[in-house]
Amino acid sequence: MVLEMGGSLIRNTIRAFAYSTPLHRILGMGQAKFDQEYWNKQLSGAFKPHLGGTISVGVRNSIVLSLIDNVIPHARRLLDVGCASGSLFRAHGGHRFSYVGTGISDVAIEEAQKLSPDAEFHTARLEDFSPERVFDVIVLNEVLYYLAVKDARKAAEKYSRYLTEKGILIVSMKEDPKSRAIFSEIGKALQWVNGILYQEKATAGPEFSIRRDAKRPAYMIGVFTRCP
Ligand SMILES: C[S@@+](CC[C@H](N)C(=O)[O-])C[C@H]1O[C@@H](n2cnc3c(N)ncnc32)[C@H](O)[C@@H]1O
Repeated sequence: MVLEMGGSLIRNTIRAFAYSTPLHRILGMGQAKFDQEYWNKQLSGAFKPHLGGTISVGVRNSIVLSLIDNVIPHARRLLDVGCASGSLFRAHGGHRFSYVGTGISDVAIEEAQKLSPDAEFHTARLEDFSPERVFDVIVLNEVLYYLAVKDARKAAEKYSRYLTEKGILIVSMKEDPKSRAIFSEIGKALQWVNGILYQEKATAGPEFSIRRDAKRPAYMIGVFTRCP
């Protein structure tokens, strides 16, 4: 058991390292094609129920809102990048922030606008979108790991330039070697503020260690500011 855990720790450390270097391409850990067509197909098919939210998304949104309350209680303007159906807007009751949501899938953005007619949504690839104003909070929930590690860092750096002076960038991702590599890269470019690690425990009984589980992964939420 200990040997097994040690083996997976070494494997995951090597994978996290490989994702930070060109080695991942040589090892065939390349990028799948996550374009608009892919997302429209997923979000009108297998992932459609996710547009209504899942328990993980609900918990994650509550934690994100709690982090905002604690770190920047006077935040008023929020940009939600890769927002799917805008569950974060609905989670805060729709009145606390002036909210802008963006996403690559016009299917999801259409649904978001239907569910929240008062919020502002744009269909846009996060790599191409340039906000027209600054925000107190910019959120990248469960979206950066669809990019290559270096592009994810570039995106985090780009969006950090649209933060107000005390503004925060929040990144959440499922816990796996690629996400760890992305967090490590963002940590080199931005200032770390705080983080939360959590995992839903639906089947294991009252057993509360964090485990690698593809179906119910643990999630990491990191809060950053621009470097001083
Ligand atoms: C796993 S879902 C997460 C949705 C939402 N942020 C949440 O966590 O509840 C990923 C979302 O990111 C969007 N997305 C993926 N790649 C994107 C990109 N390059 N630019 C903008 N949105 C993207 C997808 O359309 C999808 O809605």
